[in-house]
Amino acid sequence: MSNERLTIAVQKSGRLSKESMKLLEACGVKFNIHEARLMAHSTSHPVDLLRVRDDDIPGLVMDGVVDLGLIGENVLEEERLERVIKQQPSGFSSLRRLDFGFCRLSVAVPKEEKYEGLQSLAGKKIATTYPRLLESYLEKQGIKARTVMLTGSVEVAPRAGLADAICDLVSTGATLEANGLVEEEVIFRSQVQLIQREEALSTEKQELVNKLLARLDGVQLAKE
Ligand code: PRP
Ligand code: ZN
Ligand code: MG
Repeated sequence: MSNERLTIAVQKSGRLSKESMKLLEACGVKFNIHEARLMAHSTSHPVDLLRVRDDDIPGLVMDGVVDLGLIGENVLEEERLERVIKQQPSGFSSLRRLDFGFCRLSVAVPKEEKYEGLQSLAGKKIATTYPRLLESYLEKQGIKARTVMLTGSVEVAPRAGLADAICDLVSTGATLEANGLVEEEVIFRSQVQLIQREEALSTEKQELVNKLLARLDGVQLAKE
């Protein structure tokens, strides 16, 4: 099939969106984006963009629904751990680590609480959007705590009485500060990765990927 198009999943709106589009453009892949549309066809290459929620990107690649994805390692590793537990497909290949989307996943506690190391979390309730990453960290450290899954507004959980602590993404620290929380443990450091589905691509598609990677390396090098 010579008219097959390479599909790339990117975050539709959020922290990674702008940089993801800038990166593709810097590689010479041009798009006319219609804000309301899920799909965008490249005007310069046989490439289609799938604009979705970041949380959906790892699964789309692991299920082989799209060929490539640009995704933060936090979301990627959480989905991988979840799928390993559920015995669902969790394979992918990491093509490149990219120099954007830097953040850390940290445990934070209300500033009025005394914190004396990880053992302070034993038996506590911790609210997070990343239960698998948190549980695997706590298990390795030999700490037994309960995780409370929240998909948003995690930082208000302690004040709302839903949890004793939180485990959430931190970038500038402004959100923690504004909510009277203190960052105590960094459990995962994250940046963006370009990933590819595990099942082999057609020769044409793989050649295009290789060409794009060569350009990407040129772009990254020029920035250093
Ligand atoms: C994250 C996190 C905090 C905020 C922290 O949200 O949940 O709300 O960033 O950033 P700060 O330390 O600079 O205040 P984000 O919108 O990135 O979450 P998402 O990746 O789920 O969109
Ligand atoms: Zn279309
Ligand atoms: Mg998100």
